[in-house]
Amino acid sequence: MHSADTSAPRPRRFTAAGPLTGRIRVPGDKSISHRSIMLGALAVGRTRVTGLLEGEDVMSTAAAMRAMGASIERLPDGEWIIDGVGVGGLLQPKQALDMGNSGTSTRLLMGLVASHPITTTFIGDASLSKRPMGRVIEPLSQMGADFTAAPGGRLPLTLRGISPAVPISYRLPVASAQVKSAVLLAGLNTPGTTTVIEPVPTRDHSERMLSGFGAELAVEVAADGTRTIHLTGEAELKPQTIVVPGDPSSAAFFVVAALLVPGSDLVIENVGLNPTRAALLGVLRDMGGQIEELDRRDVGGEPVADLRVRHSMLTGIAVDPAVVPSMVDEFPVLFVAAALAAGRTVTTGLEELRVKESDRIAVMRAALELAGAMVTETEDGLIIDGTGGAPLQGTPEGGAVATHLDHRIAMSMAVAGLASRAGVAVDDTRPIATSFPVFEALLAQASGAA
Ligand code: S3P
Repeated sequence: MHSADTSAPRPRRFTAAGPLTGRIRVPGDKSISHRSIMLGALAVGRTRVTGLLEGEDVMSTAAAMRAMGASIERLPDGEWIIDGVGVGGLLQPKQALDMGNSGTSTRLLMGLVASHPITTTFIGDASLSKRPMGRVIEPLSQMGADFTAAPGGRLPLTLRGISPAVPISYRLPVASAQVKSAVLLAGLNTPGTTTVIEPVPTRDHSERMLSGFGAELAVEVAADGTRTIHLTGEAELKPQTIVVPGDPSSAAFFVVAALLVPGSDLVIENVGLNPTRAALLGVLRDMGGQIEELDRRDVGGEPVADLRVRHSMLTGIAVDPAVVPSMVDEFPVLFVAAALAAGRTVTTGLEELRVKESDRIAVMRAALELAGAMVTETEDGLIIDGTGGAPLQGTPEGGAVATHLDHRIAMSMAVAGLASRAGVAVDDTRPIATSFPVFEALLAQASGAA
């Protein structure tokens, strides 16, 4: 949400509807959309993007890149055209950059600004202003940028970038694609070789797209899986034509909904299946979920398929913590699947969930309990004893799930509402527009209510 948004919360009760059937298409991938705008804005010439996610988070990125000199326009047919300023060509913005709810915009743009001679302030909404920025301040300070942040390394934050910055070799202390990307993007305008070492692989959209735009980038993978990424600056980026695949993190809500609602048989078209993003499907299949991949193909350098999902009886499992980075955003909706499964689901290694748009461990524990599920919170995960397919009770009259400005809590609990007796009330559906503005319309369409 825009940090100055004063609109009233929009509560809604999500209730059981018909089975999910037919074909739907989810909007473009959020991670890829952010990156296509940023790199398009740094290329010399005109980049064209189709399938861009037109959610609030991506619009925050677009507004910031415009404020720093790029021209970014939407054509009437939905194609976006971006006229870039060239690496090193970003201008000093006249006002603070409002990042709204978007951690990805904030952390990646901090990287871009760090190696330009720009001083700017980043602000955000109440959720974003609680999130830790120290994880990017640290490496970017090593490169020579200077920061004044609110206590705890939070927004509002003022960044004084430097040019030329110093190339560094940085080993990621947390498995974070945002931190990796911030350092690599800072490396674009830094003479010499910037290196990021990631012991645990995270989403690799930045690497794929940087190579696609012509940056000099090399990746080494060690026998133990450690990835070392070298980027040589100062880079010259060539404009591209980009097709953004559908967002697997958005598709996840419909995958789980179709698995849970009896009679469902739904096709979700054009879902991105980059292996660094797709672990949820494997976990759900291990639980007994019937999910087929149809027409596997390549879209814009990313693997894509249509998913056919049928109602299934799920069984609880222990989720291997090694898959966490490849489904880090999907745990809230996995918890909902677990709440309806037979037996116990145990999740561990989820510390990072506590610093997302909300503390997703505590918030989902409270939300699912309110809806009648059996949940135990641990330091690094949830233990959930499922109903064995019986619908959840739903939230009591007068009680509503607190979503804490977190889109994924709102959408996950909407899915829980479909599999409940009394329905699930959520206190605010506005945050859904950050990543999936058409979620409610697609839900109505798939469940035959539209
Ligand atoms: C993202 C990385 C992840 C993810 C976020 C998008 C990205 O965050 O949760 O929704 O586009 O790089 P972390 O880097 O904090 O894990």
